[in-house]
Amino acid sequence: MRHWSLADGRQSLILASDGARLPQIVYWGPQLPEGEDLAALTAAGALDVTGGMLDRTPDLSICPEATQSFPGQPGLMLRDAEGTSILPAFRFVEAEEEGDRLVLLYRDQRHGLTYRATFATCGDTHVIEARSTIESAAPVHLHWLAAPVFPGPQLSDEMHDFAGRWCGEFQMNATPWSPGIRCRDNRTGRTGHEHFPGLIVPCRGATNTQGQTFGFQYGWSGGHRMVAEELSDGRRQIQFGHAAGTETSPGMRFESATLYAVFSDEGINGCAVAFQRHLRDRILRFPRPDRPRPVHYNCWEAVYFDHNMPELKEIATRAAALGAERFVLDDGWFGNRDDDTRALSDWVVDARKYPDGLGPLIEHVHALGMTFGIWFEPEMINPDSEVHRRHPDWALGPDDQILGRNQKALDMARAEVRDFLFDRIGAILSAHPVDYVKWDHNRVLPMADAAQTRGTYALIDRLRHAFPQVEIESCASGGGRIDFGILGRTHRVWLSDSNDALERLKIQHNAAIFLPFVVTGSHVGPRECHTSGRVLDIRFRAWVAAQRHMGFEMDPRELDEEEARVLTEVTEWWKRNREWMGRADILRLDSADPAVIAEQQQAEDGGRFVVFAGKAATSTQTVPRPLRLTRLSPHARYRIELLNRGDASGLSRGEPVLKSQPVVLSGQYLMNHGLTLPWSFPERMWVVEGERV
Ligand code: GLA
Repeated sequence: MRHWSLADGRQSLILASDGARLPQIVYWGPQLPEGEDLAALTAAGALDVTGGMLDRTPDLSICPEATQSFPGQPGLMLRDAEGTSILPAFRFVEAEEEGDRLVLLYRDQRHGLTYRATFATCGDTHVIEARSTIESAAPVHLHWLAAPVFPGPQLSDEMHDFAGRWCGEFQMNATPWSPGIRCRDNRTGRTGHEHFPGLIVPCRGATNTQGQTFGFQYGWSGGHRMVAEELSDGRRQIQFGHAAGTETSPGMRFESATLYAVFSDEGINGCAVAFQRHLRDRILRFPRPDRPRPVHYNCWEAVYFDHNMPELKEIATRAAALGAERFVLDDGWFGNRDDDTRALSDWVVDARKYPDGLGPLIEHVHALGMTFGIWFEPEMINPDSEVHRRHPDWALGPDDQILGRNQKALDMARAEVRDFLFDRIGAILSAHPVDYVKWDHNRVLPMADAAQTRGTYALIDRLRHAFPQVEIESCASGGGRIDFGILGRTHRVWLSDSNDALERLKIQHNAAIFLPFVVTGSHVGPRECHTSGRVLDIRFRAWVAAQRHMGFEMDPRELDEEEARVLTEVTEWWKRNREWMGRADILRLDSADPAVIAEQQQAEDGGRFVVFAGKAATSTQTVPRPLRLTRLSPHARYRIELLNRGDASGLSRGEPVLKSQPVVLSGQYLMNHGLTLPWSFPERMWVVEGERV
């Protein structure tokens, strides 16, 4: 037997192999004691055999092989150049163990194949990074390559993966484990609203705040495939890789993206904190990490395509007065882009709308103390555009394809397309002091192709190298391209096109399982929401935006005095708190009332926190049920203050103490009895500040 052990202070991952065969993960969970006998552990975990079974149970290896009588999905599906299936049988070559990294190398001599698996642990964040690579001496067609395969926990009844739609991202689906496969295979060619590549597997009884939970995120923007399979012997496997068949050309080297895997013994929040911190501290690369996140103003919902300089200047002036620090000029500034039927790819300033170029607007924005950002949708082209007329062959997919928002995608695998985009985008970024690009992607691809994603990554990398001060926001009709792959290259996500605070509250709550405060864009929208028709109070809209990286997107001229006052105050509060909130953990609370969606943002040192308790619906019971907090020190005492107690409605007639004054309570009480909040209307948010005394 061979054994390898990885530990990060919280979890252990033990791999073992029988002789030269590929290893399997024989233990993944709370860290094992020093000196655990790995041979004994492996022997103890061997399964019995009974009637109807093979004489020995095939390993559930990190890349299950069809040649080993493995009864489930293999981790690798390949064909040779002639199309004949290759059924590899890998044998051990070498293992490299260096600090927190383990690299395992296996070879199949007969087929000239090399398989490499890499695992890396992180003692700070407790996220395991795992990737696999396959190399071949001759060109092969790859159908499927799983990142190293993890076992699914046995004491788990269901798994949660993520679906969604435009204006409704991060919807969690619970699927009971049962024999067979739960498969997600994303054919859209982008991460997609529909298929956020994450999985949460809670063990029985786990909630947001307690219990064992396993979490996964696949860092790839071209669409993923997930296979969560229960075998007839009861074992479970979890595979993640690029969507099947998206390597469309034969090749001699293929690699998976990084699979981020986490074990938590503190419920879903244990996974959430690990992912939030890992993304923030290990993946994101801000040009100026010390600069606090600026309050955004984005003009999309104020003017759409109707750009007019005096109006934009007036809007900018008002946005700055409300507290905005970055002005983002959205779609409509280039070509003859008067609506969404034309001009994508004609990235030249529209002289009709900007006779003197962008300079005067940027100067105005700068004079107001704001920085300037601009919208691009680089990978797209309208058939009605100068560039399409010149280069119809640059578009990806057949001529008679169905358009999406009247547009096609460009073929990003072509170097001349990337060069063209680099030059056009680079011309704008060189000519002007731009510190931010909103990078959009508003349609699915005509067919999924990994080369497209690699092309996009290469273009972003090249632009970032040339313009290292520019931050990039990943947008795809809202949250259609959010994953740890794109976030290694960008700095913010436009979580959703929904500026409806009620929808946002839900989307943000689930997205927080993966995304920290600093990366999650959230804007105060118009009084009457453009995507839902809902009319929501400014207090609710402002506080929901203040839960994340705050911004405004309404026409500020619509705000009455009271609305402007509330928004200015909440924005000031946000600015006073953004520094510590930028390093805080977002903890989802277990709310006794399903109408309440609540979270606690807790400072790194545990010394302070803020609770946002959003009332998403009317409750069935009459008065609020206490809301339990989490991760406090039981014996410490906390000063608790209802920050916006002035928002209590006249229908709240009683005297819960928080309505009139702060209280000091122990962590024990707050975590076990909880906070008793005043009665409120639905679509309102209570904001509670806590400080250790
Ligand atoms: C997408 C984005 C919006 C906006 C428009 C512009 O829908 O998600 O925020 O930028 O494109 O066309």
